Amino acid sequence: MTTRIFVTRQIPDEGIKMLKKLKGVKLDVYASDLLIPRKELLKRVKGADILLSLLTEKIDAEVFDAAGPQLKMIANYAVGFDNIDLAEAKKRGVIVSNTPGEEIAETVAEHAIALIFALAHRIHEVDAFTRAGKYHGWGPKMFLGTDIVGKTLGVVGTGKIGGHLIQRMADGFGVKILYTDRQANPELDKKYHAEFVTLPELLKRSDFISLHVPLLPTTHHLLSTKEFKLMKKTAYVINTARGPVIDTQALVAALKAGRIAGAGLDVFEFEPKFAKDPADAKFLQKAWNVLLTPHTASATHETRQAMSRRAAENIIAYLNGKTPPNAVK
Ligand code: DGY
Repeated sequence: MTTRIFVTRQIPDEGIKMLKKLKGVKLDVYASDLLIPRKELLKRVKGADILLSLLTEKIDAEVFDAAGPQLKMIANYAVGFDNIDLAEAKKRGVIVSNTPGEEIAETVAEHAIALIFALAHRIHEVDAFTRAGKYHGWGPKMFLGTDIVGKTLGVVGTGKIGGHLIQRMADGFGVKILYTDRQANPELDKKYHAEFVTLPELLKRSDFISLHVPLLPTTHHLLSTKEFKLMKKTAYVINTARGPVIDTQALVAALKAGRIAGAGLDVFEFEPKFAKDPADAKFLQKAWNVLLTPHTASATHETRQAMSRRAAENIIAYLNGKTPPNAVK
């Protein structure tokens, strides 16, 4: 019997090559670098036994229905799986896997660091200024930024990504680390002199606040009006997790009122839009104390290939009758 695998977009090739080598497998890859239109997804998923999906596709009851009862596995090409209705998958006996690992964690941590440094040293502003031919001579007060050394970083969520960020910022740059999570992590405390605190305390004391939590009902709008009010006026907020963890309207209000210094955003609440309200989106687009990247925190050749291999490894394990190594519980 042939197993049909449907891949919803072109992805880096290493995992695809692994799947192509399998016997008894028919691989159907949507031949585009762009998001598959919903109608096309519903059509093409029909009859698939395994779906290799991306974080940009909402995998819900409609997709399960369109696929048919033979669908048994969804291998999501992402660490996050908030695009998948897990309850629906469970109800239908469909296994879901994701692509976590050291490689993606390191890359996303690097991106968070890049946002921190770019904001502190105003890199995007000075680059635009210099390119525009406006640099006519050195000045002692030109584009003053803020030091990283001696500052406090608040890390919200200490999974793999948060852990790599803490290690690099504490070891590399001598930054004081505060963190919050469901429980304290004695290893972080010991190795990096990190301090486990509540979210409000972290928000009050941090100069940079970096989010590393999954999107769950409990983390939706984790940062909203009340939380922005607790922050220092000089604080920067970094989000490489999921957009809805921040209430965008509240963020824009905080930035407009000068209640915080700035933000580095790789993800957006209404992605790919910066904000639901066009005026808020325009504000974010124009604000020089805001740095925007298009959900590219994991976008390196190495990591996107590793994610491709990981998705394939999960599928192969499933086909061999094993529990996929990254099955989502
Ligand atoms: C993930 O894997 O969840 C990331 O957001 C993709 O870069």
